Amino acid sequence: MLGAAGGIGQPLSLLLKQLPRVANLHLYDIANVAGVAADVSHVNSPANVRGFTGQTQLGAALEGCHLVLIPAGIPRKPGMSRDDLFNVNAGIVRDLVTACAKHCPTAVLNIISNPVNSTVPIAAEVLKTHGVYDPARLLGVTHLDVMRARTFVSEATGLDPNAVDVPVVGGHAGVTILPLLSQTTPALRLEQQLTQEQTEHLTHRIQNGGTEVVEAKKGAGSATLSMAAAAAQFAGKCLAAMAGEKNVTVCAYVASDSVKGLPFFAIRCRLGRSGVERIYPIGPMSAFEVDGLQKLIPELKSSIDKGVAFVTGKDGWDEQPLHNAQQRRVAARKSGVNDVRAGAGDVAGVQM
Ligand code: NAD
Ligand code: LMR
Repeated sequence: MLGAAGGIGQPLSLLLKQLPRVANLHLYDIANVAGVAADVSHVNSPANVRGFTGQTQLGAALEGCHLVLIPAGIPRKPGMSRDDLFNVNAGIVRDLVTACAKHCPTAVLNIISNPVNSTVPIAAEVLKTHGVYDPARLLGVTHLDVMRARTFVSEATGLDPNAVDVPVVGGHAGVTILPLLSQTTPALRLEQQLTQEQTEHLTHRIQNGGTEVVEAKKGAGSATLSMAAAAAQFAGKCLAAMAGEKNVTVCAYVASDSVKGLPFFAIRCRLGRSGVERIYPIGPMSAFEVDGLQKLIPELKSSIDKGVAFVTGKDGWDEQPLHNAQQRRVAARKSGVNDVRAGAGDVAGVQM
């Protein structure tokens, strides 16, 4: 994990140490990591923990890693948008992903640092520059949005939060976070069904869950504990799929053809041994959700373009390398990945 001594990094280190599939846990930060590593290493689980710090130890931290989690970077204070973090965090993510490209080019990357809508395109461009970009292995972590949706829907309906599921698509900032409440599973019984007012309220709360925490913390940071839980669940799913477990699905912000003009989109995916194995269609949406999708497109596109431009100096996403279905299938076969960026059919630019 890169950024292991931070607000997310510390509780996440503790949770990762306890994951049965973690054999070696490498904790890297620019400061204060030795104490975290010493502390976490005393938890009785098989994972062997080592701390690394400073630029000179970054390569050694990454060497041999199969999964890299990146929560390095500054968090929001009240009144800030996630995009306000771009000026600091874009460079941090670029430099850390450059090190990943050099020292663990086939690792699956989980990008947590905000603004995720831009840091994932930044990571993609860096990996491309080094000739090691495999879209299947680059995942923006939006699982906290799914956790919030599960929690808030269970509060509203009385459903078990561990049993309820809600896909959350789009991106990870404000209106770009689009919970598909109409696709809640298990299907809501008549008496549990959400009114339009409840749907709007829940959508707004899920979209602003991060801000709710930032304001409650009054300048002391953003979500750290719930994020650590979300990242540990997400990493656990990645590791399970990498170990060969079948039918592992998550929502993640990945390279996708789901919506025309948006090269990255948070969408439900099936994971496999090398990352994203299949991207599912968005599925049927309510009129409210279709409207939400239309509203998010300009903001998400501009955040993606901003990330791309940060690395390339060019304005837009270069579609060339994975432009058509044939090229994608060839690229997918080469990397041992099936169906990446495949969808069911294109309806008005959206794969439903
Ligand atoms: P924090 O300030 O508490 O911790 C960040 C850590 O990153 C610090 O320990 C810092 O030393 C370290 N760091 C800075 N530059 C580094 C570098 N070049 N290499 C390695 N480590 C470096 O912040 P936090 O609360 O842990 O949040 C971290 C990031 O995660 C923020 O950008 C925040 O917005 C984001 N976040 C994302 C989600 C999500 O859902 N994806 C949720 C919560 C927070
Ligand atoms: C969140 O959703 O909690 C994170 O993206 C942190 C933030 O800035 O809101």
